[in-house]
Amino acid sequence: MGQERVLVVGAGAMGTQIGAVFALAGHPVTVQDISEDALERSQAVVRKRVGRLAEKGAIEAVDAEAAIGRMSWTANLEDAAATADLVVEAASERLDIKREVFARLGAAAPEHTILATNSSSIPSSLLAEASGRADRLCNMHFFNPALVMQAVEVVPNDQTSEATIETVLRLTEGIGKHAVRLHAEVPGFVANRLMMALLNEAVALQAQGLASIEDIDAAAKLGLAHPMGPFELMDLVGLDVVHDIQVAMHDMTDGDDPAPHPDVQRLYDAGHYGQKSGKGWYDHS
Ligand SMILES: NC(=O)c1ccc[n+]([C@@H]2O[C@H](COP(=O)([O-])OP(=O)(O)OC[C@H]3O[C@@H](n4cnc5c(N)ncnc54)[C@H](O)[C@@H]3O)[C@@H](O)[C@H]2O)c1
Repeated sequence: MGQERVLVVGAGAMGTQIGAVFALAGHPVTVQDISEDALERSQAVVRKRVGRLAEKGAIEAVDAEAAIGRMSWTANLEDAAATADLVVEAASERLDIKREVFARLGAAAPEHTILATNSSSIPSSLLAEASGRADRLCNMHFFNPALVMQAVEVVPNDQTSEATIETVLRLTEGIGKHAVRLHAEVPGFVANRLMMALLNEAVALQAQGLASIEDIDAAAKLGLAHPMGPFELMDLVGLDVVHDIQVAMHDMTDGDDPAPHPDVQRLYDAGHYGQKSGKGWYDHS
């Protein structure tokens, strides 16, 4: 049997690179989106990013061309699903959109096809009923940029079969990623939970006037060997993204996980999102 055929739903920032990762590992890949613009941009991004890997000598030029040649782009979900062995959904982060996509995938994909969602905050259990195949469904959470970041969190819902998880773990290893296997759903999975614990503590320390944001960042970098400090990280990721993740985790745990700290809320309300808006914890203007 050749390499499993992969359908990636959503040709945005994540879907495009997830598709390229599978194609580089030899899988035939279809990337689907409802937006023709997104499909065009996605093709251009793949050419650029995969081309750059070859320029840097990370891969051979012929392998780059072969990988790009294994990819196709379409607006037709049903046709693409009909031949897929694995679907990774990376469409916009909205439950209503994902439910509709999974209902259509569940109807159009062959029986054996595994459906995974790359969602950062929507657990696959919320898509189980729509998909009609809870046992062949899980979260497969890539990190941004997917071509670079090595971890993939693999998260079962309470009906996901062991066979499904084993297949997803094998596929994850096959694309050269490290699978972080969770044993049950938890808001934020592992990486975002770790990150939020760090960020919340950093924000609390500065709010209590115990140290400056510069010194807290220095402690993380020069004391813990983190590549960047928590305040630099928030400015890079975006205070809007941090805020939204914290709200989602707070809501999903019925308040067990903290709501955004008042200082994060204040920056968020002022539109001070960090690098993307020119100002966050630091001034980037
Ligand atoms: N950006 C990140 O850092 C990151 C990291 C990990 C996971 N995620 C998750 O990945 C998913 C996608 O995020 P993104 O940053 O790539 O978003 P994005 O906005 O860049 O791309 C989303 C794409 O989905 C398309 N889309 C919307 N509705 C659709 C539908 N019904 N069918 C097919 N395509 C549809 C949009 O046209 C768009 O091109 C989200 O679930 C997000 O939580 C994002």
